[in-house]
Amino acid sequence: MPGDTLSGFAVIEAAPAKINLALHVVGERGDGYHLLDSLVTFTAFGDRIALSPAEEDRFTLSGRFSATLAAENDNLVTRARDRLRAALETTGQSAPPVHIHLEKNLPIASGIGGGSADAAATLRGLLGLWRADLPGDRIDAIAIGLGADVPMCLAGRPLLARGIGEDITPVALPALSMVLANPLVGVSTPAVFRALASKRNAPLVLRDASVHWLDAIAGLRNDLEPPARRLCPQIGELADGLATTDARVVRMSGSGASCFALYSSDAMAEAAAASLKQQHPDWFITATRTLEGHDGTP
Ligand code: C5P
Repeated sequence: MPGDTLSGFAVIEAAPAKINLALHVVGERGDGYHLLDSLVTFTAFGDRIALSPAEEDRFTLSGRFSATLAAENDNLVTRARDRLRAALETTGQSAPPVHIHLEKNLPIASGIGGGSADAAATLRGLLGLWRADLPGDRIDAIAIGLGADVPMCLAGRPLLARGIGEDITPVALPALSMVLANPLVGVSTPAVFRALASKRNAPLVLRDASVHWLDAIAGLRNDLEPPARRLCPQIGELADGLATTDARVVRMSGSGASCFALYSSDAMAEAAAASLKQQHPDWFITATRTLEGHDGTP
């Protein structure tokens, strides 16, 4: 069992945090889900999934935020394993027992898709470990069945997400210097959607911003931020704290409570993270970089 190293495992998959750089709620679907337009990217910082063949299925945990998950029987990692195995078995392929280890570095239920990233990394890792041969549309169906953010986490690169999140278009986006922060207070995603003043807002229009991405992102918004701030005042305190630094953009991700700030350089992000950690030792704060993306097919 790895204490703090995953080196003994056959496969290690990164599970990056998902950041909604902007999120517009543009409609409702009638089944409780909302239609979104979202500009999404992923961070170098995230969870890690490690996999090895085993005598019987095992699921183990480590990391700063593992305690909450350890108390639950059900989680998106084992659900992803079970659904992929069931799909493979209908095609006559074997899906033998596996030890899956989750290093949980991301705060739980915090608007950065931690559980979805873990599920996507589990699917990616198991498809390799089991040498699985499944058509893309079956993998996509498993992903969206696990959660609205799982398909975008499976893509794992900058993208525009539409529909409930499953309609994905890759976008060219440079690496961005970021501070990711969370007040370590949970917010209920359905409650935030229910508290929206308007569910039919203007679509997200991305102007060609290849030169000034930070300005382009600063001009966008997250429609879930006002209702989330009303339900959870700590989000406002966190955003105010980030705004005291040299940030070019401060915004909430997903339905919160995580917020991010963007900077002109990694050094500025690191300096901001260091000073915020001193002032707010009770918050989760990390400086990171987002993953770069190029145009083209996923
Ligand atoms: O699909 P997932 O389980 O991640 O969604 C959690 C909840 O978030 C849903 O039950 C729904 O209330 C809300 N949601 C939504 N519209 C989306 C995605 C999620 O209303 N596009």
